[in-house]
Amino acid sequence: MFRCINSYSILYILFALSIGMCYGFVLLSSASGDFSDVNIFENGQSLRYKLQSTILLNERNLSAKNVGFFIDGEVTIDSIWTHGDQKLLKIEIKSPKLHIRSRKAPSPDGFIPHSSKLDNIENNPFFIVWNKGIIENTFIAKNEPVSLKNIKKGISSLFQFQLLDGETTETDSSGKCSVTYTSSSPSTFTKTKNQCASGDFDYINNPNHILGVKIDSTRTVDYELASNPFIIKSIILKESHSVFLTAREEMGNHIEAQETLTFIDSKKANTVEGTDLEKAIENISNKLGVKFNRETLLTEIEPIQTEDEISFSKKVERMRSQLKIEHMGSTKQAKVFTELVNSARNAPKEDILKTLTTKKNKPILTQLYDILGYVGTLDSHTTVMKNLHFDKEEQIDFSERYLWALSFSSNPNLDVIKDLHNKFNKINSIPEKVKETLILTLASMTYRLSKTAQAKYNIHRDVEETIINNLDYAKNEDKYKFFRALRNLKSESTVPVLLEYIKKGTQKEGVLAWRAIKDLDSSSTNKDILTAAEKTFFQLDRRHDTSSRTIAADIILQSSLNNELLTKLLNFLTSNDPAYEIKQYLFQRIKMLAESDLTVKNNVEQIIKSNKHLNNYSGTNPRGLSISLTRRFLNHPSSNGSLVTVQEMKSGVIKRGTIDVVIEKEEFSNELFSLGIFSGGLHTFMSSDNGGNEEADEETATAGIELTVLGTQIRPFVFFSGQGELMGHVWSGTASERTPAYQVLALLHDHLEYIRLGSGFITNINIKGATSMDLSGQIEISLWNRNAESLVQKAAGIVVTGSSTIDTMFVKSLVEFSSSIEPKLNLHSDIDFSSNLHLCMRLTQPDAVFRHNIYKVERIPGSKHKMRISKYQKYIVPGTTYNINKKNNQMCNAIFS
Ligand SMILES: *[C@@H]1O[C@H](CO)[C@@H](O)[C@H](O)[C@H]1NC(C)=O
Ligand SMILES: *[C@@H]1O[C@H](CO)[C@@H](O)[C@H](O)[C@H]1NC(C)=O
Ligand SMILES: *[C@@H]1O[C@H](CO)[C@@H](O)[C@H](O)[C@H]1NC(C)=O
Ligand SMILES: *[C@@H]1O[C@H](CO)[C@@H](O)[C@H](O)[C@H]1NC(C)=O
Repeated sequence: MFRCINSYSILYILFALSIGMCYGFVLLSSASGDFSDVNIFENGQSLRYKLQSTILLNERNLSAKNVGFFIDGEVTIDSIWTHGDQKLLKIEIKSPKLHIRSRKAPSPDGFIPHSSKLDNIENNPFFIVWNKGIIENTFIAKNEPVSLKNIKKGISSLFQFQLLDGETTETDSSGKCSVTYTSSSPSTFTKTKNQCASGDFDYINNPNHILGVKIDSTRTVDYELASNPFIIKSIILKESHSVFLTAREEMGNHIEAQETLTFIDSKKANTVEGTDLEKAIENISNKLGVKFNRETLLTEIEPIQTEDEISFSKKVERMRSQLKIEHMGSTKQAKVFTELVNSARNAPKEDILKTLTTKKNKPILTQLYDILGYVGTLDSHTTVMKNLHFDKEEQIDFSERYLWALSFSSNPNLDVIKDLHNKFNKINSIPEKVKETLILTLASMTYRLSKTAQAKYNIHRDVEETIINNLDYAKNEDKYKFFRALRNLKSESTVPVLLEYIKKGTQKEGVLAWRAIKDLDSSSTNKDILTAAEKTFFQLDRRHDTSSRTIAADIILQSSLNNELLTKLLNFLTSNDPAYEIKQYLFQRIKMLAESDLTVKNNVEQIIKSNKHLNNYSGTNPRGLSISLTRRFLNHPSSNGSLVTVQEMKSGVIKRGTIDVVIEKEEFSNELFSLGIFSGGLHTFMSSDNGGNEEADEETATAGIELTVLGTQIRPFVFFSGQGELMGHVWSGTASERTPAYQVLALLHDHLEYIRLGSGFITNINIKGATSMDLSGQIEISLWNRNAESLVQKAAGIVVTGSSTIDTMFVKSLVEFSSSIEPKLNLHSDIDFSSNLHLCMRLTQPDAVFRHNIYKVERIPGSKHKMRISKYQKYIVPGTTYNINKKNNQMCNAIFS
């Protein structure tokens, strides 16, 4: 790369010709091209500049009026002391004035001056130690408010620049950035800052790509120089930051900053004496009677003005009615939830304790535990643990809600994991339900921690050891929860243990082990797993449960499937294996895969054409009710959404079924929510057909649902277990009333970030997405008519709010968006087992209203001025009835004819 210097001289042309495109050259004769060739900030020189610093906030697509302000004034820079390359510059901001937007203001720019705290602020000169373009030190008067210090650091940073084109790393008011200098003409050059890091500030993000937040930033500073004498004619800083949701790129905010210094004139300055820098500063300090602090160029966050803050307990009191159970599933509740998570994250222990112990909060305690689980700070956890005792029977519901929230949170806290691990091992008498939820939570939090932290923590090894030891030690059904925990832990190193259980364990253990393997990150699928999957599917080693076989088939199909294996699988369809539901399942899965992948489709067609039996088989309608299909429910430029349904049937009853809500963006696919249904031993009610198994197994009648929320499986809910319990339900009709199965508040988006703007302001970015969810179900079975009807209803209130705030002691600006929707999904199924078995499923989604609101607010502390611009939009998302498949339609016709 050429090294160029961006300044002006007659030698320029010669030099430019010899090096081509590159501007710049060496002033005078020296070829070194650095500051030693130019006498910048000559000792005793005073320069005067006009200052303007503007901030504009807007919604993401800039389609409407912005809010914002600017500050103008004059800046003088006196070069007062020099020693070698070190120069001490005294800088003063003279009569800074705030200007704000106003309806009364004249067009076109619409700003008017306004009185503010800036008018009578203590404002001393400040000093920078400038050494060859680097600012080594900044001295700012001790007692000045942070707002003013930050502006001073912004101005100081403008004077940090290099003359040579090239790349480097610099720390200034934008944080630590990689910086590029490029000259555009003999007298102009641009400094571009990229990847600015502010590791010293709080930062929260959701590592889940689809639920993440993206910030696109540009930062440039243009310099114009003049030679003879060598002075800076102008500096123009321009920055823009677009903050948006990755899954919905139009939702977000835009922040723009500009700062300019324009040269007015120069004169002589008074210099100071001092043998070294310390002495010189001391001399100034004495003369001005002001104490100075040595500071870096990094700006600081404004101290929280406690008088503005409403305490968490006060907020809960105000929002108590919206938190009530009857509002579960509403956007109202989701909105309140995000506000309270924000509030509790900053709340002191006493405030949280007060909220938990207030009598009036009793009816909303479960929701409060949801909130505190997402807060996840050590303060909130220790406070919760003062009130919540995992071993208390009467607190089972609270314990589970709190643990679920912890397990869904995208930001697990290491100290909380350690504490829970300790409690799991130390407390003896934890009720079974809580014990299971606790170990599932530990596993999930540990997995998420491994995704966020760079370093591997010991806790990962400890939790894994605990789960494996308990699994080995437990007997019979007590083992199951540890298999589920391994499913949440998603640790590659547990694969050998799981494969061992598949080889030697019971059939049920095999199913659970396969499910744990299936949920590993796809990069973990190795040869051992694929070999075992083939053995299980084709039952080469032993008999396996049908669910183990279907899951093994899924794993094979998800791996990079070779033609040989695909041929084997397709040939299985014409084999004489009596498990016809497995064949139907496989047929459906391959069909679904072929629909989304053209290569697979071509390969499948090729294989079928070349096999007479297969060619015939595929043309017929294979026996069985198992289905696998995917239906699009969302088409959006920045993400697609699908419902993926897989139903493994046995004797006309769903043995294992799932409905997944999947969001996709480019190559990323994410399962937000999965509803699983399981049943066993019900076929005796339904028909004499044994479901294609050679032997009718003597399973106890059971049914229930299993939920996976944001990738975390939670304890299954069992509706009944055993014939007696089932008959009780049937006769008493308890299941035939709509019963809530699962209600929860969950945080989807969770992003907190501070952006340091080059001009010294700091933007707080806070984006929260939340859902209040209500899942309920209803089953009616008539043994007389030999039919059954079931309804699963899911209602969710979803709210996303995102704010960008600039908070200073003299002006506060905010732009916020808020989007909400209340989608519902109904799965209705009718089963008629009076003669031939018929199953009709209807999946419908009613109309929903989507709302998008924008608020822009600006106020001046200590003054009446307050501007608020609001914009409301809404539109209807039309409902649909999902077409399941031809066979289902035929069955529906048969039932309802
Ligand atoms: C900007 O977004 C609003 C909704 O927030 C929309 O109505 C408008 O059409 C968008 N404008 C452009 C230019 O995309
Ligand atoms: C401070 O500076 C003055 C000149 O501006 C000089 O006379 C004096 O000796 C200096 N004092 C110290 C302590 O360096
Ligand atoms: C196709 O399968 C049917 C039923 O199994 C059979 O009757 C028929 O002969 C087969 N046809 C061919 C071409 O193999
Ligand atoms: C959504 O799906 C369509 C077609 O299925 C695809 O072309 C598009 O790239 C997808 N969009 C995103 C953001 O992934």
